[in-house]
Amino acid sequence: MTLPSRFAAFRIHNDDAGYRSGVEQIALDDLAPGEVVIKTAHSSINFKDALAGTGQGKILRRFPLVGGIDVAGHVVASSDPAFKEGDAVLTTGCGLSETRDGGYGEYARLEARWAVHLPQGLSLRESMILGTAGFTAALALLRMVENRQKPDLGPLAVTGATGGVGSLAVDIFSRAGFEVHAISGKSAHADYLKAIGASQVLGRDALATTRPMESARFGGGLDNVGGPMLASLLAQTAPYGNVASAGLAATADLPTTVMPFIIRGVSLLGVASAGTARDLRDAVWQHLASDWKPRHLERICTREVAMQDLPSVFPTMLAGGSFGRTLVTF
Ligand SMILES: NC(=O)c1ccc[n+]([C@@H]2O[C@H](COP(=O)([O-])OP(=O)(O)OC[C@H]3O[C@@H](n4cnc5c(N)ncnc54)[C@H](OP(=O)(O)O)[C@@H]3O)[C@@H](O)[C@H]2O)c1
Repeated sequence: MTLPSRFAAFRIHNDDAGYRSGVEQIALDDLAPGEVVIKTAHSSINFKDALAGTGQGKILRRFPLVGGIDVAGHVVASSDPAFKEGDAVLTTGCGLSETRDGGYGEYARLEARWAVHLPQGLSLRESMILGTAGFTAALALLRMVENRQKPDLGPLAVTGATGGVGSLAVDIFSRAGFEVHAISGKSAHADYLKAIGASQVLGRDALATTRPMESARFGGGLDNVGGPMLASLLAQTAPYGNVASAGLAATADLPTTVMPFIIRGVSLLGVASAGTARDLRDAVWQHLASDWKPRHLERICTREVAMQDLPSVFPTMLAGGSFGRTLVTF
């Protein structure tokens, strides 16, 4: 296939002229090296993309780079025999928009070792409604069930529930047979949270307690916000329950004690989607395409935007105003 000499991409610069980002025309040779070139179908917007696009967080480790930590599309050229023209592939994390060019371009060049063949059971569109957010939620659940989390331990709490990771966690956990209690600051979206799988919707004050131990109300959960809410979730988790820590939407601090760990055997599990080993990565995508595939992906996809719209979406997300997932369509 003949590739265009130039194409549009949302690129992030940081040089003598300052930190800035926007859509510009670039050439394929401007992209970091890789074996697989794809024509982008979809990308998505994650919290990290908003930090990178605005410069409010140190995400990029070299400049300039095309933004976007997620990408999915069809292969148009490949020097790796595992991928051939026309294959549907995706990559989430794995250095995109950190050390190499990401998914906010009409074309993307990927490393074969991190490209995933679109699993049967998912469309490219669905794979990017999931994106890093869905991958993170499913990775958290995989870590929890590998550490003996069972539905009879009690409901799983999900903080930051209306956000991207939170919404997908609500849907995935309930599909996997767990009762889900959504914790959200947006009471106006309680019906949405119930529609996608929450049996109860609680305000953030459900995790406002400050004592080292409280009565065990949850079997465990997934935390997207950090700080006192995570500490309170640990203090309210049943014996041998698991709490997965994925985010810092409120703060990176964790004001806790060792009591939940040494009295109740509670486990605090880390979730780092970007650095997941290949075998674990493949296992998570297989779950996402089959037994853990969210039942309400189109409901969770609350917004579909073009590359040009990215700057208008980032500030709302950073201000905690996210609601569901935002798909970027090319
Ligand atoms: N570890 C990983 O691999 C990984 C992967 C993806 C994302 N993350 C992190 O996970 C977090 C969520 O990401 P996302 O893409 O889902 O972001 P998002 O769509 O912006 O959702 C974040 C949600 O957190 C809640 N929130 C925001 N500010 C808050 C505050 N000050 N106090 C309490 N709750 C607050 C809000 O939900 P409510 O209004 O419903 O409470 C908001 O919708 C981010 O910190 C992100 O960096 C980590």
